[in-house]
Amino acid sequence: MLGSDLMEILKRNEKYNLIPTDVDTLDITNIEELKETSNEKKPDIVINVAAYTDVDGCETNRELAYNVNAIGPKNLAISCNEIGAKLVHISTDYVFHGENTVPYTEEDETDPINYYGETKLVAEQFIQKNMNSYLTN
Ligand SMILES: NC(=O)c1ccc[n+]([C@@H]2O[C@H](COP(=O)([O-])OP(=O)(O)OC[C@H]3O[C@@H](n4cnc5c(N)ncnc54)[C@H](OP(=O)(O)O)[C@@H]3O)[C@@H](O)[C@H]2O)c1
Repeated sequence: MLGSDLMEILKRNEKYNLIPTDVDTLDITNIEELKETSNEKKPDIVINVAAYTDVDGCETNRELAYNVNAIGPKNLAISCNEIGAKLVHISTDYVFHGENTVPYTEEDETDPINYYGETKLVAEQFIQKNMNSYLTN
């Protein structure tokens, strides 16, 4: 969903050399494949819109959810860090408990509401741990 929308917007600007991928061409759970592609293509910026987003499915397919939503971003962080690429990663409001009456901020305490949120939170932590620098916003 987000990946297709982003492509529509980014391709309007000729200065971007876009390299779109999907699970068939680049599986983010496969670190060797990621390293090979990042070393070959040497992207300046990697935008990760890949995820296992079936919230109910995450409860029953926990291994798959963890692999795609947590290990995948960890692999991306390692491979981006190695070549000095910036990684843009999208998390989710499910990392919070959902009881706030005002919008959440990056500084709010996390407390995942479900397993999908748990895996997305672990991804945030993996990225912070495996990249030399990061911004949260
Ligand atoms: N949509 C929302 O309301 C929302 C809200 C908050 C945050 N987000 C976050 O925004 C990001 C994009 O979400 P979205 O709604 O665009 O999700 P989406 O439509 O479900 O797209 C996710 C894509 O990731 C692909 N994918 C799954 N496993 C993969 C793997 N191992 N390697 C590479 N690609 C893989 C999926 O391919 P298949 O379809 O072939 O499995 C799918 O094309 C996610 O990080 C999500 O957590 C979304």
